[in-house]
Amino acid sequence: MLLNVKNLRKDYYRDQQTFSAVNNVSFSMKKNDFICIMGKSGSGKTTLLNMIAGLLTPTQGKITVNETNLFELNDQQVSAFRNQHIGYIPQGSSLLPNLTALDNIRLPFYLTKRSNNNSLSYAQSLLKKAKISYLQDAYPANMSGGEMRRVAILRALICRPQIIIADEPTSDLDDESSADIMQLLTEINQQGTALLIVTHDNDVASYSQTILKMSAGKFID
Ligand SMILES: Nc1ncnc2c1ncn2[C@@H]1O[C@H](COP(=O)(O)OP(=O)(O)OP(=O)(O)O)[C@@H](O)[C@H]1O
Ligand SMILES: [Mg+2]
Repeated sequence: MLLNVKNLRKDYYRDQQTFSAVNNVSFSMKKNDFICIMGKSGSGKTTLLNMIAGLLTPTQGKITVNETNLFELNDQQVSAFRNQHIGYIPQGSSLLPNLTALDNIRLPFYLTKRSNNNSLSYAQSLLKKAKISYLQDAYPANMSGGEMRRVAILRALICRPQIIIADEPTSDLDDESSADIMQLLTEINQQGTALLIVTHDNDVASYSQTILKMSAGKFID
């Protein structure tokens, strides 16, 4: 199994009370799976994705990616593991301001040692597929919100991850740009990369094989 999430829980403390932002969630994914998670604001979607990406430690439960238990790795190991296996597209803006679009996209490729050391042509082909080649040498300050988002999506693809985890990837895109991105992600999915996408957008969900609904930290029917 590519991803296995078992009895995952994350407790937070607020107003002198403990509550479970993610409450006993289990599911698994294999190569080629495409799952969408939907649910109201505050239902725990980002908290769940952050744990799967190894960015947040669960209160309880287990996550394995390719049979590796994420929480048995130390910080440095988990970063390297994420770089090699997981493409994460976080909610909100996350580009480095002092790098051009092209360099933002290529950066993750150079964070771990790789046998093939050329990312330029792949980065350029991704820019072309997303129809934003004109942004190649632009800095984030001179891009629109939707353009930054698309660059962040391409950055998650550069290392050819086995699983892509995306938190509302099309939230600031118009219908046409959103369809371009979904076409690119679907193509990558068909080539064998699993997709786990949180979205409020029914059009995005319509591309997926499975929709999981989240409410108050749990998956509901
Ligand atoms: N660090 C934190 N400390 C305390 N509570 C938190 C923390 N992070 C998130 N929460 C709470 O956990 C719940 C789930 O938050 P989460 O960000 O996972 O929601 P979400 O489903 O992604 O919402 P949205 O659709 O608005 O992005 C919310 O009630 C939120 O206020
Ligand atoms: Mg969220």
